[in-house]
Amino acid sequence: MPLEILGVLLHRNASETSPGGGPAFDVETIETMARAFDENDFDRVLILQNSFAPDPFAIASYAAAVTRRLAFMVAHRPGFVAPTMAARMFATLDNLSGGRAGVHVITGANDTELQCDGDFRTKDERYHRSAEYVDIMRRVWTCAQPFDHDGEYYRFTSALSELKPVRGTIPVYWGGSSPLALEKGAEVADVYAVGGLKPLDQMADTIAHVRGAWARTGRSVRIQTSARVILGDTEEQAWKAAAEVVDALRETALDQQRRLAGEGEAMSTGMRLEPKLATTRGGFGRNELEAIAQGRELLDKRLWTGITKASISFSTPMLPPALVGTAEQVADAMMDYYAMGISGFLIRGFDLLGDIALHGRNLIPILRRRAAEHDAQLSEPASAAPFAQSA
Ligand SMILES: Cc1cc2nc3c(=O)[nH]c(=O)nc-3n(C[C@H](O)[C@H](O)[C@H](O)COP(=O)(O)O)c2cc1C
Repeated sequence: MPLEILGVLLHRNASETSPGGGPAFDVETIETMARAFDENDFDRVLILQNSFAPDPFAIASYAAAVTRRLAFMVAHRPGFVAPTMAARMFATLDNLSGGRAGVHVITGANDTELQCDGDFRTKDERYHRSAEYVDIMRRVWTCAQPFDHDGEYYRFTSALSELKPVRGTIPVYWGGSSPLALEKGAEVADVYAVGGLKPLDQMADTIAHVRGAWARTGRSVRIQTSARVILGDTEEQAWKAAAEVVDALRETALDQQRRLAGEGEAMSTGMRLEPKLATTRGGFGRNELEAIAQGRELLDKRLWTGITKASISFSTPMLPPALVGTAEQVADAMMDYYAMGISGFLIRGFDLLGDIALHGRNLIPILRRRAAEHDAQLSEPASAAPFAQSA
């Protein structure tokens, strides 16, 4: 099972615990981060999209030019450009980067936030539209002859892209945990992205649902999860860092509340802060996270719900639980998810720049070694077993 390690490439040096400071759009940070991901053995980076952030497509093109092997998972919301044109945009990015493009289809959780860009469709309509959109993009990538289309959301004649993706197609990632997200994703997507870590038994249920949905359409699927990690050289140091994250979350939330009370349309270095416009608001996964937050503080080997509880108490965007420990301990816990069939990890801490090198140096080598050992064990031929040899 090929292991894919992903990061998040932002356009400014900010995280949930240090949202302020620095310019709202920082080309130097983009370049430094992109190079750091490239040099620290990350395979791919997610570049986010919403109705008020800079354009992820342009950021990906820039990052591609300053890196050599790093691939991209460009968040892209259907509904704003024609799918035929989006297909050509992605084919162009793919050729510019030597085959490193990837599209992460964002259907969107929050109706009110999508309306800022003029999208008044319901979430159900958006999921149907996303599936039609991906189907069209893939046909544009692969069809050598012009084709017509007359669908539920799109209609055109004689579509054709002169430029094709380097490897014939472009990987399509898909997020969203509602039943319709799975149903429509299974029709068109290659990779299903789980939004965050959850207890192993719940993750097993999610994987079963994803596999079931994809089995019904006969498509194969890779599954990835986002994984918050808090590392320390010793376990004690990791728990100290975890406590500091909660303190910083509290400070950030208080600062945000002060801005909201004072200014109405609150901004923080270019970010809109109104809770009603949070991109995660209205997402199906919230109930699951609230239930996790009400449970025990420590689950499985070292899954810590402290940040999830804190994000509810301080009304920040919901944070899924994190793995806390030394790199060896965290990698060991991540392997439990890998063994269940999760082959991609979008790893993130709370120190945007510093964590890239830390994860590259300490965590990723262990993960790659352990994943290779796991795969080798699975593929050992039966004849290698002592019983078979003596038989
Ligand atoms: C890895 C990952 C990255 C995401 N990135 C974005 C993003 O950049 N912008 C956004 O609005 N939603 C983003 N989402 C949210 C989803 O794509 C989806 O629209 C949302 O969860 C609503 O789905 P649901 O209510 O069906 O769960 C992301 C989700 C995942 C798993």
